[in-house]
Amino acid sequence: MKVLVIGKGGREHALVWKLARSPRVSKVYCAPGNAGTAVEGENYAAEPHEFDRLIRFAKREQIDLTIVGPEDPLCAGIVDEFQKNGLRIFGPTKAAARIEGSKVFSKNLMRHADVPTADFKIFDHSEPAKYWISTRDFPVVVKADGLAAGKGVIVCSTIPEALKAIDSVMVKEEFGQAGRQVVVEKRLEGEELSVLGLVGGRGIYLLPCTQDHKAAYDGDQGPNTGGMGAYCPAPIGTPEILQEVEDKIFVPIIHTMKRQRFPFSGTLFAGLMLTSQGTKVLEFNARFGDPETQCILFRLKSDLLDLIEAALDERLEELDEQKIIWDPRPSVCVVLCSGGYPGKYETKKPITGLEEVKKMTDVMVFHAGTTLDENNRVVTAGGRVLGVTALGDTLAEAKAKAYEAVAKIHFKGMHYRKDIADKALRRS
Ligand code: AMP
Ligand code: GLY
Repeated sequence: MKVLVIGKGGREHALVWKLARSPRVSKVYCAPGNAGTAVEGENYAAEPHEFDRLIRFAKREQIDLTIVGPEDPLCAGIVDEFQKNGLRIFGPTKAAARIEGSKVFSKNLMRHADVPTADFKIFDHSEPAKYWISTRDFPVVVKADGLAAGKGVIVCSTIPEALKAIDSVMVKEEFGQAGRQVVVEKRLEGEELSVLGLVGGRGIYLLPCTQDHKAAYDGDQGPNTGGMGAYCPAPIGTPEILQEVEDKIFVPIIHTMKRQRFPFSGTLFAGLMLTSQGTKVLEFNARFGDPETQCILFRLKSDLLDLIEAALDERLEELDEQKIIWDPRPSVCVVLCSGGYPGKYETKKPITGLEEVKKMTDVMVFHAGTTLDENNRVVTAGGRVLGVTALGDTLAEAKAKAYEAVAKIHFKGMHYRKDIADKALRRS
């Protein structure tokens, strides 16, 4: 079977790496891919928004299954287009991907499905939003409705900060059309947890839970990023919490979407806050997480293709969960970034040490923003460059191993967090 993965980040390298190990997969393509996916499979130079080129490629190469990494093509309807052309593709339709693409849609859906989330109000104009905020006695979060590359969420501590956030989103239109509407919601306190589930029909298979590190610097300081590291499993996600997440979040959301005639098929990612009043949803994503996927898939021993096809063909309920094998050892993924990220950064910096790390066992470097230069050297090509992922007998050992590998890698300006997994380690 031939598989095409769409995207070019660490998540996509992890998907390509894992699928290439399936006995049923003869070849994996990645569009456009990076220097890592080029080793595991073959890159095809088309961007995720070039639907026509991707469809022509899938037909020409007789691709049996396409898997979409990032949210933009999903929200723009890549799944609908592939399906119209008779091509098999894993991911939600444009209508279902609104669960990520529109915060207004997602919050209304949660309200309708009675899924626990922060209390909220939706505004089309700045003045009523400001009035409402100034009459509240709790801190709020201001969210631009549409996709804004993770930057459209402003967590505020004071009323003046929140008023400024409304100005930047609705008056200055810093996120363009994405800020035409805003969600203003109560700021929740607690610890965050990511739960990803494969979904198809009525079936749900929850993957082991993870914790991301969104802030750029140690101790959760500094600006938000796409994710600076993750670990799996997150001990805070106890079996009781995961049961609650399945029963009170995944089941009602999926049933409501099905009833409203935009059923969800694909990977549903719930970003959760564990509060003193129970588990609440911060957001849904309509795809695999990055860097969560790197540490999840590094622990999966069974064939990922079997799981994805079971979701796609609505056979998840028939799956014997006992037969899905996970490495009992925890994993840690540390993301190495370009100097300046998440702000402006330079690219084309040669990366050294990758060969050294290849000799280590239980370590995998998933490429994100990398490419090959004219001399076939691996150079940087993005903000998040590499996801150094390791397994260990304990979480502490997985962390130590990941950082041992990190110490061997270098590129000019490289920075990373040194405290990935510390939250869990402190608790134990
Ligand atoms: P989102 O894109 O909605 O997940 O928001 C991005 C990040 O903002 C989350 O991972 C949280 O760290 C933070 N956040 C979002 N909503 C809230 C909230 N209601 N209370 C506290 N933090 C939030
Ligand atoms: N790591 C968060 C995300 O993938 O959106």
